[in-house]
Amino acid sequence: MIISASFYVTDARLTGFVRDYLYRQRIRQDSLSVEKLAVTVAPLFQSGQADALDEYLISAAGELGGRLMVLDCDGKVQYDSFSALMGVRLELPEVVSILTLGEASSYGIHRLTDPQAAAAEGDSRVAYCAVRLVDSSGDLGVLLYASTVAEMVDSLDSIERQVGMFFILVALIALISAIIFSRVLTRPVYELTDTIQHMGKGDLTVRAKVKGSAEFKALATNYNAMAEQLESLDKSRNQFVSNASHELKTPLTTMKILLENVIYQPDMPQEMREEFLGDINHEIDRLSNVVGDLLTLTRMDSAGKISEKTRVNLSDTVKQTVHLLQPQADKRGQSLTSRIQSNTVFVLGDASRLEQIVYNLTENAIKYTPDGGSILVSLLQKNHQAVITVQDNGVGIPAEDQAHIFERFYRVDKARSRETGGTGLGLSIVRQMVAMHGGEISVMSEPGKGSMFVVRLPLDERGN
Ligand SMILES: Nc1ncnc2c1ncn2[C@@H]1O[C@H](COP(=O)(O)OP(=O)(O)O)[C@@H](O)[C@H]1O
Ligand SMILES: [Mg+2]
Repeated sequence: MIISASFYVTDARLTGFVRDYLYRQRIRQDSLSVEKLAVTVAPLFQSGQADALDEYLISAAGELGGRLMVLDCDGKVQYDSFSALMGVRLELPEVVSILTLGEASSYGIHRLTDPQAAAAEGDSRVAYCAVRLVDSSGDLGVLLYASTVAEMVDSLDSIERQVGMFFILVALIALISAIIFSRVLTRPVYELTDTIQHMGKGDLTVRAKVKGSAEFKALATNYNAMAEQLESLDKSRNQFVSNASHELKTPLTTMKILLENVIYQPDMPQEMREEFLGDINHEIDRLSNVVGDLLTLTRMDSAGKISEKTRVNLSDTVKQTVHLLQPQADKRGQSLTSRIQSNTVFVLGDASRLEQIVYNLTENAIKYTPDGGSILVSLLQKNHQAVITVQDNGVGIPAEDQAHIFERFYRVDKARSRETGGTGLGLSIVRQMVAMHGGEISVMSEPGKGSMFVVRLPLDERGN
């Protein structure tokens, strides 16, 4: 449409220019020849040599291919090369402008109003070129030259026709190529839409084809990356749900067996009954641990961010946590010590979550270190970071497991973890909480020698 419209405008302007040019050319030619004739005609007309003037006009008109007339000062035809309008008063504007407005020459094109004359001329338009006849004594009248413009109109028409055809051709080509181009350009969009629809129906495995222009390739690539992310998210969520169910089902199954024993053996010895009930109680504790950890995790999932950050003194946190866990370590004859570089190590965050980080790491160190081992929890500041290190000389973690211990429900030794009331969620909670505080966690460990967990958190350096 745009191409057609602009071409149409150009076309109109172009033919306008050509018309103007042809008209001006015609005016110049006609005026020149008629002015030349006027020089010869004036003396003949003045001296009244009618025959000579007639003869001259007829031959000159024949040469020019038009009609010559001589009009007197009243605008009456005195001589006519067609000898038809003698004595008729012509009130053409060209004649009027010379006789009353005093111009030297005038030119104009008219449509003939007389249908008979129009038929005779072949074309309804006639060009008039009027020139003043003068000699030394003054105005004599007007020399009028009338000629058909058929040729000029013909050539203009043919130019217009040709340009018009060219215009239609160009418009057609533009239309066809626009259709083809838009097909080519929009095909990837349709394909991508298809893919998205598929995915919307729940099939997360579909991927968009990467093709087309650079923009579409980028779009498809990004879309695929997003689909990948969604798929893996979906998988891990399913994995999580199945792990969680399994984790909940195990204590339930155990409890059911224990309870059935108690119910269907009414004559069970008192000691045994107490032992069974104690086991059930233990399973309930585990169940509530798992549920508690799950709640902590999902709450963090939905919140994502800490709503209200406060200035927390990490040295207090570490001291308190170590104090809290001291009895557990004592029970197993382990030495649990803390080494705190400064009493004022501030970070911005949530106090209870920061406490949970230290607690989970220290509790793990106690759990996975044999009786009589030693655990060291230290805190120092380095490079605008608070660095918490929890080190033990316990069982250690095999290299291949180190990458996985932060995953939900991952345990190196399932039986051992269960035995000690572990849920396999402790480290994933820690990792998530560290991330919420803008920090990072790493582990170094060697089986049989011990492990070291290092947490780095950005310091709150205001007022230090
Ligand atoms: N200090 C440590 N020494 C050895 N192994 C550890 C230590 N801390 C964690 N682990 C391993 O990482 C696993 C995941 O830890 P965690 O998520 O806290 O689960 P849980 O303690 O409930 O088993 C543990 O089961 C254990 O195998
Ligand atoms: Mg743990």
